[in-house]
Amino acid sequence: MTNKLSAEAYFDELASEYEDEGVDSALQTSHLVEAKKIFAKYQIKEGTILDLACGTGLLSQVLEGHFQFTGMDISERMLDSAAQRGYQTIHKPLEAGLSEVADQSYDFVVCLTALLCIENIQPVLNDMKRIARTGVLFTLEEITEEFLAEFPAPAYNHTHLRFPEAKEEYRVFGWTTPKGLDMYIRMILIETEHQEHH
Ligand SMILES: C[S@@+](CC[C@H](N)C(=O)[O-])C[C@H]1O[C@@H](n2cnc3c(N)ncnc32)[C@H](O)[C@@H]1O
Repeated sequence: MTNKLSAEAYFDELASEYEDEGVDSALQTSHLVEAKKIFAKYQIKEGTILDLACGTGLLSQVLEGHFQFTGMDISERMLDSAAQRGYQTIHKPLEAGLSEVADQSYDFVVCLTALLCIENIQPVLNDMKRIARTGVLFTLEEITEEFLAEFPAPAYNHTHLRFPEAKEEYRVFGWTTPKGLDMYIRMILIETEHQEHH
């Protein structure tokens, strides 16, 4: 079909250079800035966070407060960096690992710039809501033909999905690819029904 790499191979290879331009620069990435704004807006300052496809654990560097992070990722090398930032780690693809996580076992479930790597995200979204006591926060990326031509692993567009129950849902500039493509994302926050306990 195509000569794409698997997501695991691609992100393992990318891990060592993921923050090449420096942590400060990585922390300017729009999805991290927006996550920080949303947590601040709702005055969320503590709790447990399951950071799905956590990469190097940058979320822990941007949120202000006292959080305990657990990261699930397909790339062991990304998880090595996250572990150095204090993450508990689970080395599994979300498609297989999430079903093993107990109901309402984390306050928040976050998944930033990763659902583009997963073809069938509905079960993943269902698991995220099942696992979160308070809320889920995720991004959906606008995948263009140009992006598909450039991205070394398979990518899928989920921006047709709608979330009428969302507390926050907006389109924002995401990041610029190595070849200079501007990527747009939707930030989506859904409160889960268990919120009243917190
Ligand atoms: C662009 S990085 C984003 C990392 C982090 N969320 C951030 O915002 O900096 C995408 C991450 O998704 C992970 N990933 C891709 N497909 C995955 C899958 N099916 N299951 C788990 N992790 C996956 C990659 O290994 C990589 O760490």
